Amino acid sequence: MTIGSALSFKPAPEWLKTAAFYQIYPQSFKDTDGDGIGDINGIISKLDYLKWLGIDAIWLNPCFESSYQDAGYDVTDFYRVAKRYGTNGDLKRLFKEAHKRKMRVCLDLVAGHTSIDHPWFKASQAATRNELSDRYIWTNDSTVKPVKHVSGKFERNGTYRKNFFDCQPALNYGFGKPEPDQPWQLPVTAEGPQKTRKELIKIMDFWMTMGCDGFRVDMAPSLIKNDPDRVETNKLWAEIRNHFQQRFPEGILIAEWGNPARAIKAGFMMDFIIHLGNDGYSSLFFNKEGTYRHDTCYFNIEGNGTPTTFVNYYLEQLKNVGDSGYVCVPTANHDFQRPNCGTRNTEAQLRTVTTFLMTIPGVPLFYYGDEIGMKFTPGLPNKEGSQLTKGNRAGSRTPMQWDSSPKAGFSTADLDKFYLPIDSSTYRPNVESEMANPSSLLHFNRYLLQLRKQYPALGTHGAIHFLYAEANKYPLVYERSANGQRFVIVINPSGKSVQVYCPLSGTIKEFKPVLVDRASLIQVNNKLQIKADAVSYGIFRVIE
Ligand code: NOJ
Repeated sequence: MTIGSALSFKPAPEWLKTAAFYQIYPQSFKDTDGDGIGDINGIISKLDYLKWLGIDAIWLNPCFESSYQDAGYDVTDFYRVAKRYGTNGDLKRLFKEAHKRKMRVCLDLVAGHTSIDHPWFKASQAATRNELSDRYIWTNDSTVKPVKHVSGKFERNGTYRKNFFDCQPALNYGFGKPEPDQPWQLPVTAEGPQKTRKELIKIMDFWMTMGCDGFRVDMAPSLIKNDPDRVETNKLWAEIRNHFQQRFPEGILIAEWGNPARAIKAGFMMDFIIHLGNDGYSSLFFNKEGTYRHDTCYFNIEGNGTPTTFVNYYLEQLKNVGDSGYVCVPTANHDFQRPNCGTRNTEAQLRTVTTFLMTIPGVPLFYYGDEIGMKFTPGLPNKEGSQLTKGNRAGSRTPMQWDSSPKAGFSTADLDKFYLPIDSSTYRPNVESEMANPSSLLHFNRYLLQLRKQYPALGTHGAIHFLYAEANKYPLVYERSANGQRFVIVINPSGKSVQVYCPLSGTIKEFKPVLVDRASLIQVNNKLQIKADAVSYGIFRVIE
């Protein structure tokens, strides 16, 4: 068995096979102590809602003590829940309350860096050598500043390597291939990097022992520097996975890698297909507004996008991952725009998005608020590092809209104390009204999750075969199947009504509509005739 080969790992826990995920940005979900910032008790108070929606597992963005220069991705104490969210005891209670409802909670593990304010960093920058001198990557000369290195007023003679913002110094896990003439580049086997690795495992064990169910690992491929072919990175994650599964057989490891095939080979059980590493995701969803702006995308009323970049990447990923792990194509996350963005803003358009995302193979994930159609708010100020050179992430981080009251049931604080301004539209969507309305987007999305559970062919593992996925053409048509069960799904996000044909062999008795809005299928000789009105969708069960 080779280390790093997916085959050498114990399989991921069974529960992942049918789980639906929900991502919570804790700042903005539900505030119970009136400071305008969400908290753990707020999340606990909404577990029944999430259960009702059909959610099995939550991924919580970082909730640890932090300097908030990057919204919690700049940790100052990995072992303590930030005061503004509550206490370690509250988090323990969240685990317990979730488990009572047969739900799981995964934390966000910022494995690669800390805040510059972390006590480890303060010790590390000291002139005299100490236990933490090698906790971060330092050059041995403050005039030497290789790429991504930051200089400052440090006691020691050196510059440090950052991971993301300047205030996020990279923890030292060593170099895969240290350059011989740069003695400050330590090999992964050196004492400092090995101690960092042990500390990471200690952090994971700490929360898992308290009742946590797993981690989403921030920037997972980045831990080891200069590591061609990720040989050492794979070994590191393999070691962690083996240890983790031995101690916590039901625990899961999710990567933020953006390449499931690579992440799963390294030891992760699931990874996202998002805007990282490949244009597939962005070519579907990124339009002219949002954190990242593109001239066009497939889910666009203008109907001038193309599905093939995504389809090719996605199929390649599914093939390479096989049964060794899971891909996840989320509705959005805290780093980029929501489905409701720019000119993609009607309920019908949002239905085409979730019908697609909830009927393709992989683990489904709703980013908080997408289930009710909350919108990406453009033009917000920089909040806790939301602003990047390329765009602002704040538009996807606004307070959750629970009801139709002026403060939307998010918090009792004055509106100007809210973490970010709440959507100010007159008809902003909210949970309470949508729950009361069986034909709302919320009920629709809930029904999609139910269909996945009812029909394995529509679920995480069913096969997919694209019947019509043509460059610059609409609609998108694919077949899902498992155990003799077959479905055909039609998605037309464009504002044009379309009619297309594709080959279809065998005799079909009926295409039974399961969830359809203005799309139809008929078999004409050996062809499938597909008609789809502007902004329409259809899930049809194939009866042979
Ligand atoms: C990825 C996280 O999703 C993002 O929010 C953060 O800014 C960077 N990693 C740095 O930790």
